[in-house]
This record gives sequence, C-alpha cells and structure tokens, in this order.
Amino acid sequence: MTGGLYAAFSPASADETASSAEQVAKGRELFLVSCSFCHGQNGEGIKTQNGNQLGPSLVGVGAAAVDFQVGTGRMPLTQPGAQAPRKPEVFDDSEVAALAAYVASLGPGPAVPEESDYSLEGMSDEERQAAITRGGQIFLTNCTACHNFEGSGGAMPRGGHAPKIRGVEPKYIYEALLTGPQNMPNFSNGNLSPDEKRDVIAYLGSLDEMPSYGGFGLGGLGPVPEGLAAWLVGIGLCVGAAVWIAAHTTRSTKKKVDA
Ligand code: HEC
Ligand code: HEC
Repeated sequence: MTGGLYAAFSPASADETASSAEQVAKGRELFLVSCSFCHGQNGEGIKTQNGNQLGPSLVGVGAAAVDFQVGTGRMPLTQPGAQAPRKPEVFDDSEVAALAAYVASLGPGPAVPEESDYSLEGMSDEERQAAITRGGQIFLTNCTACHNFEGSGGAMPRGGHAPKIRGVEPKYIYEALLTGPQNMPNFSNGNLSPDEKRDVIAYLGSLDEMPSYGGFGLGGLGPVPEGLAAWLVGIGLCVGAAVWIAAHTTRSTKKKVDA
C-alpha cells in the first residue's frame, strides 16, 4: 500500500506516466498487430491445446526484455523452434521503445539500461585494464559453462544453443544479463552489480582486441575439436603408415614369388 501511495503521489512518476501514455498506446497498437497472436491480447501468454507455450506471459518481464528481444530481431518470432534466432530488426528504435513501454506497463520489470550504465567512455587505461581483469574473473566463473571460454558459444539441451557472444553490442550484453533470455540464468543487479556487468562488457570487448597467437584456432571451441583433430590427424597418419608398410610388404613378397 505504501508503495502504491508513493507511486500515486510522487510527482516524478506522475510526470513520467503522463508523457509516456501516448507511447504506451502506440506500443499497444503495434503489440496487437505483431505480438498478440502468440503472447495474448494483454500479454498474458497463450498455451496451445497440448499444453505447450505459443508465447510466454510478458507480465513483469520489463522493458529491458523487449528491447533485447525485439532489438536483436529475435522477436517477433516467425516460426516456432528450439530457439528464437537473432535476425535483422523488424522495428525502428521508436517502435521498439513504444513496445517496451507497453510491456513495462503490464507489470514492473527491469528498465532499459542507460548508456552510462554500460559505456566504457571516460575510463582511463588503467581503470579499463582493471575492469577487464575483474570482468574476466566474473566471466570465467559464470559464463564459460555455456558460452565457452572464448565466448564462441556452445550447444544447449533440447536443440538450443548458447550463441557466440563476440561483437555483441554492450547494451544487449547488459540486457541479456539483466533478463536472462531463454535458458540463460538472469543476473539481476543484486546478483551482479551494474559495475560488475560493465566489467564483463569490458572483458568481452577486450577479447576482440586480443591478437591471435598463431596456429589453427579451431573455432576456439576447446578440448573437443582439438582432441578430434589430434585423433583424425594422429590416428590418420598411423593408419596411413600401416597401410603403406602393408602395401609395400605384399608387393615385395609377390615379386619374390614371381621370381
Ligand atoms: C510466433 C510466436 C511469437 C510472436 C509472433 C512473438 N513472440 Fe515473443 N516469444 C515467443 C516465444 C515462444 C518466446 C519464448 C522463447 C524464447 O525466448 O526464445 C517468446 C519470448 C519473448 C520475450 C522474452 C520473455 C522473457 O521471459 O524474457 C519477449 C520480451 C517477447 N517474446 C516479446 C515479443 C514482442 C514484443 C513481440 C512482437 C513484436 C513478440 N514477442 C512476438 C513467441 C512469439
Ligand atoms: C546456462 C547457460 C548460460 C549461462 C551460464 C550464460 N548464458 Fe548467456 N545465453 C545463453 C543462451 C541459451 C542464450 C540465447 C538466448 C536466446 O537466444 O534467446 C544466451 C544469450 C546471451 C547473450 C545474447 C547474445 C546475442 O546474440 O544477442 C549474451 C550477450 C550473453 N548470453 C552473455 C552471457 C554472459 C556475459 C554470461 C555470464 C555472466 C552468460 N551469458 C551466462 C546461455 C547462458
């Protein structure tokens, strides 16, 4: 009740609601056309007859989830599948903002982060280095299980995959952390503070600047392809040598018999 009273009487939020009412109305229109088919007329979610989700409820997912899903082109989903793939964006920025405002009006959820939350501008070189080091530690503990130590992605159960996360825009990294799309856990600000999120962004940025130290990268996928390559090449050479020796021995024996 206290929260409700505060929201009702707090002048700041009253102003905000007035100015965004139009945006919410525009967002609702877009939503009815492009999203309600799967997410329901009021974003309540739709279940198919066999109990699967056509689209989950969007109440409380927040503006950040919409900005991420629509901004990376995952939504609107065109066909059901194991995972919504990243594709070119369908809506322009003001339409994404309107959709986000509408979904945010359905229930409280994480807001779209400000640029100052994720931008690395204004950091000195030393601060940046320190951020990269801290971010690397956070990344190694929390992300490598799914995204691999180089951020090149990996397979997930039931036909899904954790995508490659190199070259993803800082804002979408922040929002992915905040909202935990699909099988990804969410790292709320209580879990991973905004500063720590920025450290992770700094680390991921640094991976792109890292020189490659020669040799074959094999996609940076770790021990599996490396082991496979060692097997194929190593065992392949052994088999080749064995065949060569065998072929040679038979030929020379044959020659002897002929003689
Ligand atoms: C063809 C059906 C379909 C359409 C159309 C569709 N969605 Fe979705 N949406 C889904 C499914 C299925 C999921 C959950 C699977 C996933 O996240 O990959 C989802 C997930 C989401 C999420 C993430 C929810 C969360 O818990 O974080 C958001 C936000 C979202 N949709 C917004 C939209 C918006 C906005 C539109 C319209 C522009 C839209 N969707 C159109 C099927 C659809
Ligand atoms: C349990 C596995 C799992 C863990 C742990 C995980 N992720 Fe993810 N992540 C995923 C999956 C699955 C997706 C794809 C979601 C989708 O497409 O709807 C994803 C998507 C992302 C994206 C969006 C990429 C894009 O193409 O837009 C980013 C960025 C990301 N993760 C970063 C991270 C970071 C940073 C961490 C660690 C703090 C992390 N993830 C931990 C599974 C995981």
